[in-house]
Amino acid sequence: MRIIETADYDSMSQVVASLIAAEAARKPDCVLGLATGSTAIGAYGVLSQWYRSGAISFAQVRTVNLDEYVGLAPEHSHSYRYFMNEKFFNRVDIKIENTFIPNGIADDVEEECRRYDRLLKSLGGADIQLLGIGHNCHIAFNEPGPDFPLYTHKVALAQSTITANSRLFASQDEVPRYAITMGIGGIMSARRIVLAVSGKSKAPAIKRAFSGPVSPDAPASILRLHPDVVLVGDKAALSELPRGVWQW
Ligand code: F6R
Repeated sequence: MRIIETADYDSMSQVVASLIAAEAARKPDCVLGLATGSTAIGAYGVLSQWYRSGAISFAQVRTVNLDEYVGLAPEHSHSYRYFMNEKFFNRVDIKIENTFIPNGIADDVEEECRRYDRLLKSLGGADIQLLGIGHNCHIAFNEPGPDFPLYTHKVALAQSTITANSRLFASQDEVPRYAITMGIGGIMSARRIVLAVSGKSKAPAIKRAFSGPVSPDAPASILRLHPDVVLVGDKAALSELPRGVWQW
């Protein structure tokens, strides 16, 4: 694992954007695995800016997102499809038909999960997968549990996730209780994983994931078994990482 420590959120976003831009430059038709959430917004802003300045193109890039709320249509302002269109896709030259996100309003959610895994396989997996981390160490919406779910699946969101995400909704009652999420197998199939993290409140999760045991009660801990992980965090988020971890 490589650890890149930055001073603050903005410099973390610059580093994450550079890693993604480098991949798109190296392989113009690369598959980018993307995440939603506050952590990723800055990086999408930087990438959009670089596109506007002519430094980078996404014309041939394909994207696969990690997750979507069950019950929210793509046009819903709190859906992850809406988020991605607003924060990134509509700001660059990507072809919208090359961007993939689970369908939160599929009639048959089970079949939608299988379809998403087939899609991921047909794309050959992500070249680079961007992740954020939950306070409870979730990655995508793989919440702490008895095992590491391999495949795309429907998940009941943990209460801590509902509480954390309610900041974006009018009230906690409006936060969907279920999501479709890529499984740990899909995430781990990416050639490179970039875990972005910012802020003091995430420091205990980073400490748990990278210095406690690898176990499904801290889903992000599985990342220690991946051969190419880059942890990009600001000082505050990395402040509780024990010394030994830095020497990996
Ligand atoms: C979003 C996702 C989640 C978030 C995580 C952190 O697609 O998969 O795992 O990355 O909840 O969210 P923020 O960045 O809002 O703290």
